[in-house]
Amino acid sequence: MSDRVRVAVFPVAGRGTRFLPATKASPKEMLPVVDKPLIQYAVEEAVSAGATRLVFVAGSSKRAIEDHFDTDPELERALETSGKTALLASVRDIVPEGVTCIFIRQGEPLGLGHAVLCAQPAVGKEPFFVHLADDLIHSQKPCLKQMADFRTKHGGSVLGAQRVPREQTGSYGIVDIGDADPGVGGRIRHMVEKPAPADAPSDLGVVGRYLLEPEIFEKLETTGRGAGGEIQLTDGIAALLKEQAVYAMPFEGRRYDCGSKLGYLQATVELAREHPELGDRFRAYLDSRGD
Ligand code: G1P
Repeated sequence: MSDRVRVAVFPVAGRGTRFLPATKASPKEMLPVVDKPLIQYAVEEAVSAGATRLVFVAGSSKRAIEDHFDTDPELERALETSGKTALLASVRDIVPEGVTCIFIRQGEPLGLGHAVLCAQPAVGKEPFFVHLADDLIHSQKPCLKQMADFRTKHGGSVLGAQRVPREQTGSYGIVDIGDADPGVGGRIRHMVEKPAPADAPSDLGVVGRYLLEPEIFEKLETTGRGAGGEIQLTDGIAALLKEQAVYAMPFEGRRYDCGSKLGYLQATVELAREHPELGDRFRAYLDSRGD
């Protein structure tokens, strides 16, 4: 088993309909939380977990993401000339040394499983992360790093998981870990995409963090359309776990569903409260409102 996970896949082909009209011409992954777009938080998490090859699977109108991770010599010159060194560093550091970005087009929006399959030529036969940027996880240790460490200890594929309110099972992939404690996680016996509460095998939901063995691609190649008429990653994993260990791992940290307006606002407030430059003034502002 290779210990290091070097590749991260970012499916960024979703339309972001819950955020229209903001996402009409600009991808939802470019929505900023305080001063960085969601996709940059995603990349930082993957890089700090050891990824050096970043694979973006994009649909149409995702040019802004490509541009964000490209160099901008004109902007850099302007910042340099005006002596704005901190801003210059923040722009230059977006893609650290030794990290490569690869952009792949998902021709048709056939679902998350299909998007991951599109990344296969850039991933090859290695374990890889899948990161859904609209799930922002604020934690001491980056969630993907927690998962990489879990894999080093236990092997197998690893899915980030958390308990979700029963009435919301229809928004998540839901796992069955048998008698294992959902607070601790365990080996997954079965997994189902977005079941109605009455059909859900548990209340343990998968969040947008996956660490997958490359055999998932074989499974996705033969995965038919599932929930919502889409090729679901969950269904591919459900096939994989019959042959290999796949674990659900509750993580340390707080998850914000930034694909929803409420989750996005909560993330903005909490990250602004802790922001190194703004935090003090922002907390003082919140306190001064007294409501
Ligand atoms: C996707 C997955 C689902 C997972 C969720 C986490 O759904 O299909 O299994 O629980 O991400 O955010 P989406 O939210 O893209 O509909």
